[in-house]
Amino acid sequence: MLSIVLSGGVTGIEGYMVRVETDVTRGLPAFVTVGLGDSAVREGRDRVASAIRNAGFRFPMDRITVNLAPAGVRKEGARFDLPIALGLLAATGQIDPGPLERMVVVGELALDGSTRPVGGVLPVALTAEREGVSAIMVPTGNAGEASALGSLRVLPVAGLGSAARVLSGGEPDSCSSVPCAAVSDVARYDLSEVKGQRFAKRALEIAAAGNHNLLMIGPPGAGKTMLARRLPTILPPLTRGESVIATAIHSVSGLLSPGSGLLERRPFRAPHHAISGPGMIGGGRVPQPGEVSLAHAGVLFLDELPEFRRDVLEALRQPLEDGYVTIARSMMTVRIPASFALIASMNPCPCGHLGDPTRKCLCTPAAVRRYRLKLSGPLLDRIDIRVPVAAPGFKELRGGGDEPESEAVRRRVEAAREMQRDRYGDLGDVWWNAGVPVRILVERVRPAREATEIAGAAMDRLGLSVRAYHRLLRVARTIADLAGDETTLAPHVLEALQYRGCGQDGRS
Ligand SMILES: Nc1ncnc2c1ncn2[C@@H]1O[C@H](COP(=O)(O)OP(=O)(O)O)[C@@H](O)[C@H]1O
Ligand SMILES: [Mg+2]
Ligand SMILES: [Zn+2]
Repeated sequence: MLSIVLSGGVTGIEGYMVRVETDVTRGLPAFVTVGLGDSAVREGRDRVASAIRNAGFRFPMDRITVNLAPAGVRKEGARFDLPIALGLLAATGQIDPGPLERMVVVGELALDGSTRPVGGVLPVALTAEREGVSAIMVPTGNAGEASALGSLRVLPVAGLGSAARVLSGGEPDSCSSVPCAAVSDVARYDLSEVKGQRFAKRALEIAAAGNHNLLMIGPPGAGKTMLARRLPTILPPLTRGESVIATAIHSVSGLLSPGSGLLERRPFRAPHHAISGPGMIGGGRVPQPGEVSLAHAGVLFLDELPEFRRDVLEALRQPLEDGYVTIARSMMTVRIPASFALIASMNPCPCGHLGDPTRKCLCTPAAVRRYRLKLSGPLLDRIDIRVPVAAPGFKELRGGGDEPESEAVRRRVEAAREMQRDRYGDLGDVWWNAGVPVRILVERVRPAREATEIAGAAMDRLGLSVRAYHRLLRVARTIADLAGDETTLAPHVLEALQYRGCGQDGRS
């Protein structure tokens, strides 16, 4: 007898439907799976057989053929255990196949017949919804994620026994034993925890408002990491659409904790500088998102920027430019969203103390030059704001109140973004001052005459390139947006000139 169970796989972060066809016929006992390459699916046969027996069902001593269609698509992982097991039970008349018709089933099985959560449930649920499927059966640990959409009926099951019970009209398992909502509530940071540093905080606010990338230059212990960690607290809250994508990325990476639903906070990723290219950009035989994608809709913090491998930094250009990465494989090319706020830090020199009034720098001028040249021009070109961060003095560290600060800053950031929406909103895509195409920047941002004169004079005096001039214009415009000024004025340009990072790269 033949049975069909719908399931789903993922490529990149896109889900696709899979038909699990199970045929049981008289013949020498055998268990054959076709239409798939991954060894995990082959190993799945043993798990399925044990799970069926241990859940109190009969494993047929017949010829079993399982076909996963479409055949061309790579179907990785143990996510098909549960649909295969249900298919077998349906094909052998142990359960009623009727209710399976309009339902998608995913889940791994343990040998004892209980279910284990799998990655990529949210993308599968999105696909199922699009295909007009009405319900999705998932391990209890995946219930929060599957419920995020709200329109699919979610049937959490703790094991094969409960799955059979649900199909004959019983209640699904509640996920109260496993937390269904997002659990971890990491300490909320606030900008007020960083004492002093008014200049750096202002730069952070401007970066958040115009979506500018930011580089902080300062000695160890100056508070760069502290500042970077607080960037998410002054960004607008995640929209639902952003959250769905960010959650899908974490889901396929297996980074959603069991039971968690949609991500509520903007991601903050701080990969170590020893990270490999695939780790940063994404990759692997079955393409997995890298750090740039895990930071999607959030913040990517690159501490000690010059210490990163040059090829890794070069590879950041595509996501910085396009907001996604493409990973090419022989069978397919996947595109994974990677639109993040970049915040980076570096020491002013290898020893870290160049320009420090209290400590002596031990580096030779040649060593300092080599250190800075590690950063490529094209990467620096995408960092609009470069700000020196000095170590705070004793007085600064003691001063200042404990009034929360992030929320007020976030409101200003949102108001400034509203101005940008008004300016660029008709263009279809979402644009902020940092990323809007130069053509539109030049057309729509026309500084007052005096402001243009100051910018022009700076170009001559500092030998600014045209690119650097546009960076200046972008930052000045964000400063004007924060001030609520429709026109870019001289003071805005003058302030923007301060965020050029002490000419540290000699190129701008
Ligand atoms: N402005 C500041 N306000 C409060 N604490 C600070 C400040 N700057 C530095 N610190 C303290 O110094 C430590 C080191 O700061 P950190 O952000 O790691 O510096 P960096 O990343 O520049 O090396 C912090 O954990 C914090 O305790
Ligand atoms: Mg640090
Ligand atoms: Zn030094």
